[in-house]
Amino acid sequence: MDCLELVFLMLYTFLCQLALSSSLPHLCPEDQALALLQFKNMFTVNPNDSDYCYDISTGVDIQSYPRTLSWNNRTSCCSWDGVHCDETTGQVIELDLSCSQLQGKFHSNSSLFQLSNLKRLDLSFNNFTGSLISSRLGEFSSLTHLDLSHSSFTGLIPSEISHLSKLHVLRIGDLNELSLGPHNFELLLENLTQLRELNLNSVNISSTIPSNFSSHLAILTLYDTGLHGLLPERVFHLSDLEFLDLSYNPQLTVRFPTTKWNSSASLMKLYVHSVNIADRIPESFSHLTSLHELDMGYTNLSGPIPKPLWNLTNIESLDLDYNHLEGPIPQLPRFEKLKDLSLRNNNFDGGLEFLSFNRSWTQLEWLDFSSNSLTGPIPSNVSGLQNLEWLYLSSNNLNGSIPSWIFSLPSLIELDLRNNTFSGKIQEFKSKTLSVVSLQKNQLEGPIPNSLLNQSLFYLLLSHNNISGRISSSICNLKMLISLDLGSNNLEGTIPQCVGEMKENLWSLDLSNNSLSGTINTTFSIGNSFRAISLHGNKLTGKVPRSLINCKYLTLLDLGNNQLNDTFPNWLGYLSQLKILSLRSNKLHGPIKSSGNTNLFTRLQILDLSSNGFSGNLPESILGNLQAMKKIDESTRTPEYISDICYNYLTTITTKGQDYDSVRIVDSNMIINLSKNRFEGRIPSIIGDLVGLRTLNLSHNALEGHIPASFQNLSVLESLDLSSNKISGEIPQQLASLTFLEFLNLSHNHLVGCIPKGKQFDTFLNSSYQGNDGLRGFPLSIHCGGDDQLTTPAELDQQQEEEDSSMISWQGVLVGYGCGLVIGLSVIYIMWSTQYPAWFSRMDLKLERIITTRMKKHKKRY
Ligand SMILES: *[C@@H]1O[C@H](CO)[C@@H](O)[C@H](O)[C@H]1NC(C)=O
Ligand SMILES: *[C@@H]1O[C@H](CO)[C@@H](O)[C@H](O)[C@H]1NC(C)=O
Ligand SMILES: *[C@@H]1O[C@H](CO)[C@@H](O)[C@H](O)[C@H]1NC(C)=O
Ligand SMILES: *[C@@H]1O[C@H](CO)[C@@H](O)[C@H](O)[C@H]1NC(C)=O
Ligand SMILES: *[C@@H]1O[C@H](CO)[C@@H](O)[C@H](O)[C@H]1NC(C)=O
Ligand SMILES: *[C@@H]1O[C@H](CO)[C@@H](O)[C@H](O)[C@H]1NC(C)=O
Ligand SMILES: *[C@@H]1O[C@H](CO)[C@@H](O)[C@H](O)[C@H]1NC(C)=O
Ligand SMILES: *[C@@H]1O[C@H](CO)[C@@H](O)[C@H](O)[C@H]1NC(C)=O
Ligand SMILES: *[C@@H]1O[C@H](CO)[C@@H](O)[C@H](O)[C@H]1NC(C)=O
Ligand SMILES: *[C@@H]1O[C@H](CO)[C@@H](O)[C@H](O)[C@H]1NC(C)=O
Ligand SMILES: *[C@@H]1O[C@H](CO)[C@@H](O)[C@H](O)[C@H]1NC(C)=O
Repeated sequence: MDCLELVFLMLYTFLCQLALSSSLPHLCPEDQALALLQFKNMFTVNPNDSDYCYDISTGVDIQSYPRTLSWNNRTSCCSWDGVHCDETTGQVIELDLSCSQLQGKFHSNSSLFQLSNLKRLDLSFNNFTGSLISSRLGEFSSLTHLDLSHSSFTGLIPSEISHLSKLHVLRIGDLNELSLGPHNFELLLENLTQLRELNLNSVNISSTIPSNFSSHLAILTLYDTGLHGLLPERVFHLSDLEFLDLSYNPQLTVRFPTTKWNSSASLMKLYVHSVNIADRIPESFSHLTSLHELDMGYTNLSGPIPKPLWNLTNIESLDLDYNHLEGPIPQLPRFEKLKDLSLRNNNFDGGLEFLSFNRSWTQLEWLDFSSNSLTGPIPSNVSGLQNLEWLYLSSNNLNGSIPSWIFSLPSLIELDLRNNTFSGKIQEFKSKTLSVVSLQKNQLEGPIPNSLLNQSLFYLLLSHNNISGRISSSICNLKMLISLDLGSNNLEGTIPQCVGEMKENLWSLDLSNNSLSGTINTTFSIGNSFRAISLHGNKLTGKVPRSLINCKYLTLLDLGNNQLNDTFPNWLGYLSQLKILSLRSNKLHGPIKSSGNTNLFTRLQILDLSSNGFSGNLPESILGNLQAMKKIDESTRTPEYISDICYNYLTTITTKGQDYDSVRIVDSNMIINLSKNRFEGRIPSIIGDLVGLRTLNLSHNALEGHIPASFQNLSVLESLDLSSNKISGEIPQQLASLTFLEFLNLSHNHLVGCIPKGKQFDTFLNSSYQGNDGLRGFPLSIHCGGDDQLTTPAELDQQQEEEDSSMISWQGVLVGYGCGLVIGLSVIYIMWSTQYPAWFSRMDLKLERIITTRMKKHKKRY
């Protein structure tokens, strides 16, 4: 095609286009159509991007769809989806591309800026990851409505935004990583005098709130913005104010006006979670007759529920979580519209008798009294709570049987009663909508009710009770199940064969500490999702199932305390995510053969093969592969547990001479326990490379030779047990440099010579050394010559005390329990399963708050 032809073709299409568009009612200026098409072409459409999408004003879910796909130059741009033109001029004045699955970079040379007459621009709920907000937005001088929220913009919000003095609605917050430069908040508020809605959620504002702002504000949401100073009282006197969200600004001080607020009649939602509330809740609160939702969690409230709140007769959602409220829970008889009541984590005491004569909470859907000090049984004659869907009473001192009315609730979705002392049987549930049942740590007995097995459960958590009977194979009908925790009960019989085929969703399977017998006769399917499998503490026989090799995400495998009879499953080393492997106390036997492959077990940080019949030399090649242990976690951050959204990784460990059951594993905790086997030969000095080790236990074997001097590199070692072997020679003096060593047992060997002096070695007692051939020095009575510096008995006592107290804190850190967070797990699941990773990855921060808010907003989904 030559040049002339090309020009002709372009001219031709141009003329066609012109003819076409002029025949339509609204003119669509050619340049604007072109600009829109160019804009469209800057982005790809990725259905995964804006899956989770909702109307910010109403909270109603919106199905995202790619609006731009239908755009083409054969029709007038005024008829395109999301495009609106002015009736008379034909200019494009509105562009609504919210929830349109757009992905890509938004540059400041974007053709969008040619649409200079825009009044409304909505680009929310797309994925512009890494894009800056262009200062050219300031050119849209007619804009009244600008929404860039939930679209992954980053960087500084340009000050030119404050040129948009006609704006009524400005939303730039939520799921963006933005900040507002110094003074820009002030400029913004000062110039945008027409604002009715301002949403800067999660924008780093880091300033005080100036008092000069639009008097038309109805919606002001400044959640998690680093605000500080005193909130201007004027905010409460905005006469149109409907929704104020200042949550998660712990530096912001809020002093509620003591006189009647001008917003009293209009204010519907007030969220002040985690702000600093000065003074008491004033009497003026009782005039907030329109208030539907109040969130005052984490605000240091104390005493009884403040009286002025009792007058909020239109309240539907009341959240006073994480305060120091105390006394009995009042009946609040005027709260007839109450749907959500959350008093989690306070100091409320007394019983729940009031539920049986409280006639006002008939609308209640969500009731959370978890983590208080409530006592006594749940009354059995409660009839007014027929609409209850979410019931949380965990971690109180409640007892007695769980009354039938709870099992009869027709629409129950989540039930969390864990960590009380409920007894009796779990009855059949009437609800068909259960998604979470968490009854761990009670004294419940009887079988698992059948009605639990035909639900869409995500979580079935019944551990630490006295539940008996067999595990029915119907359990495998729970196709949505993420976590099945039936540990520490009296279950018997075999593991249902189908369990390994529950592959789609099941992350954690905990059947530990029951009386299950037979072989592990299940085949773990290819493509399964298992992260944690614990069958610890049963009577299982046979071999380690070879199909475990299909569990490629497995992080924890605990088959300890069973009767498995097999050789060492070296092939487990191919599970590249495996961090915790416990095969302790089985009938495993034979030498641990080395395979040439150096990529096995590289992420392992807990290896427990103790109390088996392994023989031959210590597995030097495997020890050499433990790459994860060759690093010291030096970060000063508080140690984190290895866990995921549905499971805290629990196992039994032995350290410092004691066993600890059901221990939550801290990420930096590294343990090798090969004790109580028949290992022989020398201790490989390669162990000295495993510098991250905290606990090393090689006791009760037939090891000989010397203690390798390389042990001096184990600088964070806390517990070393080499007792009951045939180790000879002297204790390397270099070990005195192990300053974290709290527990040492070298007894019953053939050690000779002088015990190292100084530091930790001044704290060990006789028992660490007894039964050796010729050890001398402190604390033994045979002196080592030289000038022994004797520690006085008083110093010794003190050291012992320190040791004891550190033992307690160590236990405190280790001993956690169960699935820490049940609230809203089903929502997490939905997030996770609908591929919303960006949202998801930021959730850890304010997990609970975000989940509960979202969940309350979206609970009608289920
Ligand atoms: C969307 O997600 C699905 C499932 O995770 C994945 O297979 C697909 O490749 C994704 N599509 C794009 C365009 O990223
Ligand atoms: C957003 O887009 C980026 C690439 O621009 C991509 O890496 C990321 O996965 C996308 N986010 C989502 C939630 O799909
Ligand atoms: C119109 O669209 C077609 C294909 O979609 C394209 O080939 C042509 O160049 C476009 N014309 C103009 C004027 O953009
Ligand atoms: C717009 O700018 C970006 C980066 O600055 C560049 O990669 C892109 O080619 C430009 N697009 C146009 C149409 O000029
Ligand atoms: C305020 O808006 C006007 C336009 O209405 C603009 O000229 C001025 O620069 C803006 N001031 C600030 C501080 O942005
Ligand atoms: C508030 O802003 C307006 C408009 O910028 C200005 O005229 C007025 O003086 C300001 N008031 C105060 C108290 O700063
Ligand atoms: C917010 O911005 C300020 C400076 O404006 C900065 O000091 C601070 O670290 C930022 N905070 C976060 C969480 O990014
Ligand atoms: C609040 O309720 C009390 C009775 O509980 C009543 O005496 C008082 O007048 C109410 N205050 C308002 C402002 O309605
Ligand atoms: C169990 O409840 C008690 C109070 O009854 C509380 O002290 C303890 O922390 C709770 N344990 C867990 C793991 O939540
Ligand atoms: C495993 O289960 C299947 C089906 O229940 C049965 O036929 C088989 O005998 C079982 N194998 C063992 C070793 O128990
Ligand atoms: C393990 O199984 C073998 C047969 O496979 C048997 O000879 C041996 O006695 C068993 N070992 C133990 C400790 O039960």
